[in-house]
Amino acid sequence: MMVSRIYRTILFAAWFSLISSNCFASGAEKEIPRKEGILLVAFGSSEKSAQVSFKNIDKRVKATYPGIPVRWAYTSRIIRDKLAKQGKYLDSPETAMAKMQDEQFTHVAVQSLHTIGGAEFHDLRRTVGAFRMTGGFKSLVLGYPLMSTQEDMEKVVEAIEATIPAKRSKEDAVVLMGHGTHHPANAFYAALMFQLQLDDPNIFVGTVEGYPEIDLLNKLLLEKKIKKAYLIPFMSVAGDHAKNDMAGAEDDSWLSILTEAGIECVPVLKGTAEFGEFVDIWVEHVGESLKKLAENS
Ligand code: CO
Repeated sequence: MMVSRIYRTILFAAWFSLISSNCFASGAEKEIPRKEGILLVAFGSSEKSAQVSFKNIDKRVKATYPGIPVRWAYTSRIIRDKLAKQGKYLDSPETAMAKMQDEQFTHVAVQSLHTIGGAEFHDLRRTVGAFRMTGGFKSLVLGYPLMSTQEDMEKVVEAIEATIPAKRSKEDAVVLMGHGTHHPANAFYAALMFQLQLDDPNIFVGTVEGYPEIDLLNKLLLEKKIKKAYLIPFMSVAGDHAKNDMAGAEDDSWLSILTEAGIECVPVLKGTAEFGEFVDIWVEHVGESLKKLAENS
């Protein structure tokens, strides 16, 4: 399935570069002038509350790199289909890149707004690779997600510590809810918890769809005799997972499970991208890509 997807992407990109390069036109083509652009690629969200996060990123990228046009794409087809039913049309990365080629962008910095380099990021890598092969852009650079290098990890630790509600005391736990994945990059969540705990032993990181699971965190919290916990999403947006899996009323929500265990829970419904501390890390990654673009004439 994956192979056919890549194959389709390449065919589509090749087809698009054929039309956009006007290779059937007669006469000599003029050299296309340099035109830089930024493509921001998020998983996407259909939740209205998530728009705060996306607007914040958009604003900060434009303020930091003024004069460079910014485009958006969502990697999640489910989210795009859902939004299309409401009359909101978001591009896939493939479509967004094809459109940018058609608009004669020559140098593009694609920035992943994902948290870890999981399946979505690797799909994006393949798409970027396919577009590179067609030669439609002079330079196409992909920026890493939030947590990639060790330097990123240290900045994320600082961002988490800086954005924990001020009224939390050190005896209270902070329980972060990451998304989690079957992808090998899931190991980043436990790595993050390790690095956070070197600094603050009562900060925990779990995931909805991977390891560490809530049952393990529950056990660790009880071992440490935690009485109160702040539940905070570790996702760019406080969307469906934060509202339901983390803070929902259902028996299997993290709030219900920990409350049942005798821990007072304080849910915080804010995504990481609502805070400048996290957004700055993605914005810096865009800057690194722009630097690479500048090296290519
Ligand atoms: Co999900």
